[in-house]
Amino acid sequence: MLQRNKSLKAYNTFGIDSTASHYSSFDSISNLKELLMSRHNMPLFILGGGSNILFTKNFNGLVLKNEILGFEILEEDDEAVLIKVGAGMNWHEFVLKCIALDFGGVENLSLIPGNVGASPMQNIGAYGVEIKDVFEFLDAVHISSGEIQRFSNQDCDFGYRESIFKNKVKGEYVICHVGFRLSKRHKLNTSYGAIEVELNKRNISNPNIKDVSNAVISIRQSKLPDPKVIGNAGSFFKNPIITVNKLKQLLESHPDIPNYPSGESEAKLAAGWLIEQSGWKGKVYDERYGVHKKQALVLVNYNNATGNEILNLSLNIIKDVEQKFGVRLEREVNIL
Ligand code: FAD
Ligand code: EPU
Repeated sequence: MLQRNKSLKAYNTFGIDSTASHYSSFDSISNLKELLMSRHNMPLFILGGGSNILFTKNFNGLVLKNEILGFEILEEDDEAVLIKVGAGMNWHEFVLKCIALDFGGVENLSLIPGNVGASPMQNIGAYGVEIKDVFEFLDAVHISSGEIQRFSNQDCDFGYRESIFKNKVKGEYVICHVGFRLSKRHKLNTSYGAIEVELNKRNISNPNIKDVSNAVISIRQSKLPDPKVIGNAGSFFKNPIITVNKLKQLLESHPDIPNYPSGESEAKLAAGWLIEQSGWKGKVYDERYGVHKKQALVLVNYNNATGNEILNLSLNIIKDVEQKFGVRLEREVNIL
């Protein structure tokens, strides 16, 4: 049912008070198509769990919340399973369901907020795994024609926090189902330092996928704020990718700068380190918003901040980090 002047405060993990002039949810493709036909060229925004967006104004248009559910096994053999999942399923519930069924591949992505349908948007990643590693296909409705189109892994043009849906075809599709190929013969990925440390702490020498998931959950809970308690959208910025030459230059003045190889001629820096070294970590403004005290990449809304206050803080951080290190941070969060 179409609702007017709907508050979106409970629908974004930043907890920003914004309003949509028109709002509806949908739980099937036919339901979605009806809503798309009746929108009369109104601006459109597709909402998942609202965990990667910052509202800076009221939305004068139609917000459609994707609530398509479903978990269907399409193929299965001794080695692997192909599952088709509704875009509206909560991501962490999906991960837990896979673990309960002993399907491996997404355990490192435990506790990432949001829904399955948004996971390909920025190729979600954590602890050494990205969804492109298990992604098989997605089915999306083309907004202007109403046609359903299938995208393969290659079609999605995945990169670090990137996909075709944030670039070439931005705003053109509604993702309705995502297909994942998960393994039954598990190849655990515990190489991300903190996971090994956490497993050792628990005296687990021969972990299973549940152990890895529990370790990841515990690490995440120790440094990331829970959006139910403190408004946030996870990493506000991406980790910047720079040329190897730029890295050499930076290492001369900052020999301890954390860096990771990225392809042959590039390196990734830790944005959290750059922001912390620039003096922003733990800053609180007006007792209402600021930079998280345990993770400088995360901007937080303690109490009734506006989207513009958070956006301006991010602009000041970008400017300062660029002045200090000559590296320009890019936002990960979608600004509306
Ligand atoms: P939303 O915020 O609702 O939407 C994000 C974007 O996707 C919007 O542009 C929206 O229009 C679009 N969109 C959503 N659903 C659809 C759809 N079905 N079809 C078309 N477009 C759609 N991300 C990581 O990658 N790794 C992490 O480790 C991580 N940790 C986080 C920790 C915290 C505490 C928080 C709050 C966030 C974290 N994130 C992380 C970011 C976020 O969880 C992911 O980006 C997640 O995939 C967003 O899902 P969502 O359903 O909330 O998307
Ligand atoms: N660091 C600091 N100060 C900080 C934060 C980090 O110095 O305040 C340094 C630390 O030295 C650490 C390095 O940065 O060695 C990396 O930190 P961490 O392992 O916490 O990861 P991250 O790079 O800050 C990324 C993702 C997270 C993801 C984790 C785990 C991005 C933008 N962020 O954070 O994703 O969960 O790795 O894989 O890539 C998200 O996208 O929203 C998100 C939370």
